[in-house]
Amino acid sequence: MIASITPLIAHPWADYALLDSGHGRKLERYGKIIVNRPEPQALWGPTLTEVDWDQADAIFTNTGDEDADAGKWRLCSDAPESWPVEWEGVKFICRLMSFRHMGLFPEQLTHWHWVNEKVAKANRPLNILNLFAYTGAASLAAAKAGASVTHLDASKKAIQWAKDNQGASGLNDAPIRWICDDAKAFVARELRRGRKYDGIIMDPPKFGRGPDGERWQIEEDLVDFLGSCVELLSDDPSFVILTAYAMRLSSVSLGNLMHDILKDRGGSIEYGELLIEQENKQRFLSTSLYSRWAAKE
Ligand SMILES: C[S@@+](CC[C@H](N)C(=O)[O-])C[C@H]1O[C@@H](n2cnc3c(N)ncnc32)[C@H](O)[C@@H]1O
Repeated sequence: MIASITPLIAHPWADYALLDSGHGRKLERYGKIIVNRPEPQALWGPTLTEVDWDQADAIFTNTGDEDADAGKWRLCSDAPESWPVEWEGVKFICRLMSFRHMGLFPEQLTHWHWVNEKVAKANRPLNILNLFAYTGAASLAAAKAGASVTHLDASKKAIQWAKDNQGASGLNDAPIRWICDDAKAFVARELRRGRKYDGIIMDPPKFGRGPDGERWQIEEDLVDFLGSCVELLSDDPSFVILTAYAMRLSSVSLGNLMHDILKDRGGSIEYGELLIEQENKQRFLSTSLYSRWAAKE
């Protein structure tokens, strides 16, 4: 099996750009709204001027530890409470969340493109499982490309948000099964039921809770969980994608684990960092780690 370290670079698109970064912050445009928020990776100095940074419609300040997500937004214009961001016909409703996110992780567009290619090349509708699926960007991108999707998240609010994105995208008739459940419990149940999937996407948090308080801890749970997920793959599977944010593990560990679990199935593995290229092409910003497996085509 071929395994390679490959950085995945998200370039700006019409509705998203990383405008600048530096001094522990980043300046981004999400649709019509410019946000200035903390970015612990930005050890360097900014390239744009203070006047450019002053264009921000909203500025996030941490209330505690700079590495923690808690904090609050200050509005500098009459920015709306929510607004749409579009990618290839899929609409994501963005909101200023109290944990410094907008409900969309633009660096993941490299995965959305890759899945779309897999869906387009398959001469059958792929059946995809999206775990820890949050506001549904990957689910909607895959469904728009023609896949059947099972979307799972522990948060009812996140699922409602994903359904709102589905409606905004005009994808109400797309075959998406919405499941509010604990990821480990659901995967165990699907194994007992003998269900199979052609592609699996997962973006597990470092720490999380299922709807009934079930504990998820990435360092403790990932190895067995990934092993169980791989058992859910169909006889003619297409891919597995694992993305992870803020953790002690490295992308090499994620790649080696993926190799270990899938080595008998052939195909290829890539792993590395998800990067965003700054709009002025001055630098990349690393946002997260990934490893992904593709069956031999
Ligand atoms: C980092 S977000 C995923 C981001 C998303 N993939 C995207 O690109 O927009 C993690 C998600 O995992 C969910 N979650 C946390 N613990 C869970 C658990 N035990 N079972 C299922 N989902 C869980 C959270 O509700 C949250 O929506």
